[in-house]
Amino acid sequence: MAKTAGVILSSPRKGSNSSALALAVAGGFEEAGGLTRVVDLSGLDIKPCLACESCQRNGGRCVQVDGMQTVYPTVLAADTLILATPVYWFNLSAQLKIFLDRCYAVAMKGIFASKTIALALAHGAADPFASGGVNAIRSIQDICSFTGARWGGCVYGPATDRETLAKDEELMSQARDLGRKLWQ
Ligand SMILES: Cc1cc2nc3c(=O)[nH]c(=O)nc-3n(C[C@H](O)[C@H](O)[C@H](O)COP(=O)(O)O)c2cc1C
Repeated sequence: MAKTAGVILSSPRKGSNSSALALAVAGGFEEAGGLTRVVDLSGLDIKPCLACESCQRNGGRCVQVDGMQTVYPTVLAADTLILATPVYWFNLSAQLKIFLDRCYAVAMKGIFASKTIALALAHGAADPFASGGVNAIRSIQDICSFTGARWGGCVYGPATDRETLAKDEELMSQARDLGRKLWQ
């Protein structure tokens, strides 16, 4: 069966830089023979985790009935997750953080252990360290270490205006290369 990647976009902007990067990673994954499914979190009503722990008692089912219920099947089916986020206040976007918190329901059942997770980041500051992008990378690496997921790597670039990184051919090529590697 073909390998599948779930592509999770979290920017609310049209012409999003982080989304363009993640979609280029997905393009490389498809070129190599994989299948991708794209989820745009910004169009979904996803509430924060209630920390009720019901999911830990009922086999990994979140009791909240909202947009996340349409996302779980993509997360469960994916061999690879390609997460996209703008850097907001020196870390992940709130949209991606809420998605990850809601993944607690399934991740604590061990399903991340067989997956690879990669990250596509856009940051406003020229320097990735000064931007805080490094904190977002570290957060995902820590999630990988904790859950047993494989860290698939990241691609990142600086931009403030929409549709900036999509025009950066070198960065787009780097993103497609990452996608091809993720498929291997
Ligand atoms: C609420 C908010 C917070 C931001 N915080 C940071 C930050 O801490 N560091 C940074 O480098 N850029 C920051 N930015 C700039 C975005 O990361 C940048 O515009 C990025 O290209 C947005 O990605 P997108 O096009 O995928 O939405 C922030 C932007 C917003 C709207």
